[in-house]
Amino acid sequence: MPILRGRPSHSLIALLSVAMIRTLAGPAMAALENQTGQVSVFWGRHKDEGSLSEACDSGMYTAVIMSFLNVYGDGRHQLDLSGHHLAGIGDDIEHCQFVGVLVSLSIRGNYSLASNQSALVLSDNIWNSYLGVFRKGAHRPFGDAKFDSVDLFIEQGNPAKHYDVLARELAKHKIGDGNRKPIQLSATVHCAFMNHLITMGIYERIHVRFFDDDDAHSTNCNAYSEKVWDSWTAAYPSSRIFLGLPASPEAAKEGYLYPKSLYYGVLPVVQKAANYGGVMLCDRNFDARSNFSSYVKRWA
Ligand SMILES: *[C@@H]1O[C@H](CO)[C@@H](O)[C@H](O)[C@H]1NC(C)=O
Ligand SMILES: *[C@@H]1O[C@H](CO)[C@@H](O)[C@H](O)[C@H]1NC(C)=O
Ligand SMILES: *[C@@H]1O[C@H](CO)[C@@H](O)[C@H](O)[C@H]1NC(C)=O
Ligand SMILES: *[C@@H]1O[C@H](CO)[C@@H](O)[C@H](O)[C@H]1NC(C)=O
Repeated sequence: MPILRGRPSHSLIALLSVAMIRTLAGPAMAALENQTGQVSVFWGRHKDEGSLSEACDSGMYTAVIMSFLNVYGDGRHQLDLSGHHLAGIGDDIEHCQFVGVLVSLSIRGNYSLASNQSALVLSDNIWNSYLGVFRKGAHRPFGDAKFDSVDLFIEQGNPAKHYDVLARELAKHKIGDGNRKPIQLSATVHCAFMNHLITMGIYERIHVRFFDDDDAHSTNCNAYSEKVWDSWTAAYPSSRIFLGLPASPEAAKEGYLYPKSLYYGVLPVVQKAANYGGVMLCDRNFDARSNFSSYVKRWA
């Protein structure tokens, strides 16, 4: 179930259209008044996308979401970073944090854990391996490095029994210097998938994917829709809602927005919501080739 496909070619049409609006970014900027400047990007789905540090040093993103930690029904979990070498990533995480980029770990999989107890055990394992304080004997793929945040990547049609217990349990933890900040949880969801599975009030951020990718099921939401955006922002008033977009036309089957539509048609509407959070891009691989974030960064 790759969230994105690996077709690395440039789209000539996209580049032309990007070139045509290059002149837009000047005086017209005044139209956007409620910018947050927040741009999140998924990283870890393509070996050729460059390192985590390179993504953070590009200056384009305020958050990088590492994907994925795959979780199975019995609570087993395994990192899948599409062939990126794990060695050095711990340093990259700390480097990103040093340059002010939030680093999150996205968990994907079958949240149908066998019981509340397995959710508690899983939460404990995630805490000891990726967050928390380095504990002797714990399996730490990235050494001392600690993620700032955990993202739950929730796919349509995936059973999600007990995952809310996992989220609540993770949310109890505090991180940072002297363990003062509560851990930030986010959820990444498909726009069609709004229901009881997203527990109210737990998620600091919700990334809503307004596009269709390879894991598409029969869906009634495959591109940006004002009505759907409004229902998400209304349903989760205490979360910051992010507009989730493909970073190039190749990154998804449907849902790519040309910069001109984004600027004139979409951002002025989504930024009216009091809980507009920013823009989430899928993913670093496509963005590094399309440079879509050079627009998004200025307009988000
Ligand atoms: C998810 O896990 C549950 C419990 O282990 C199992 O019964 C179910 O078949 C799994 N579903 C998928 C899609 O893997
Ligand atoms: C599991 O946790 C949920 C949420 O905290 C609770 O509502 C439910 O009763 C628990 N189930 C069991 C079997 O303990
Ligand atoms: C900015 O946000 C406020 C409150 O959320 C909203 O009332 C206002 O319409 C927004 N302004 C623009 C230009 O979107
Ligand atoms: C991407 O955009 C930025 C900002 O406009 C620019 O500085 C950079 O050279 C561009 N990179 C590529 C590869 O086009």
